[in-house]
Amino acid sequence: MYDGDPQNGIDGQVHCLDNTTRIPPDQGMWIYDLCLATKPKSTLEIGMAYGFSSLFFLAAIAKNQQGEHTTIDPFQKSYWHGIGLNQAIEHSPTLADRSTFRFIEDRSDRAATDLAREKQSFDIVFVDGNHRYDDILVDFYLYAQLTNVGGHIIFDDLWMNSVKTAVEFIRTNRRDFREVISSQANVRVFQKIGEDKRKWHEFSAFKVFSPTGSTK
Ligand SMILES: C[S@@+](CC[C@H](N)C(=O)[O-])C[C@H]1O[C@@H](n2cnc3c(N)ncnc32)[C@H](O)[C@@H]1O
Repeated sequence: MYDGDPQNGIDGQVHCLDNTTRIPPDQGMWIYDLCLATKPKSTLEIGMAYGFSSLFFLAAIAKNQQGEHTTIDPFQKSYWHGIGLNQAIEHSPTLADRSTFRFIEDRSDRAATDLAREKQSFDIVFVDGNHRYDDILVDFYLYAQLTNVGGHIIFDDLWMNSVKTAVEFIRTNRRDFREVISSQANVRVFQKIGEDKRKWHEFSAFKVFSPTGSTK
């Protein structure tokens, strides 16, 4: 896939890739190594596209011989031809006769409510879906509640002001998360260290990144 070779869709047709929608290989290996180091029981990614990131999570499950991976993407079949889904089905390991992969064809905000009602929780959440500021913050707000204490939330695409601004809110306002330094310049990682015990009126001003790159 990294060579840009056309891939099979879930529709049985072969499709060209756009060569930009992907995490770079070193970032994928960093996710893989994080999974090997922390041995998550349950991982989740928001935004699948061609499934590059999914494959690193699934490879880690195969290596760890434990874990389950859930991916959420409302446009997987309608826009991405089910290429990521096809890859994940082909490469997800079966452990103890059970599939280790689950696909949810829905928006992340809606899926979060279903997952909460199912009492699901996750050790690693990779946020790489809709990259608007409010979508990222809503993803964080909802999936922070589904993240186990000790678990990690990873934000991709730190080159974007929307992501940088959401990260600033978390740094400034969410004492239940601590930032973890990573080797990857394009991601930010937070570890959940407790429950959200803020008072109802708490708010701290945070840095907003403007389109020109200046801050307020
Ligand atoms: C940058 S791509 C993901 C790339 C993928 N993580 C990878 O590394 O190969 C963003 C994805 O988010 C999906 N997306 C957009 N809005 C979404 C939403 N509200 N909930 C979940 N996924 C969404 C898009 O369909 C697209 O597949």
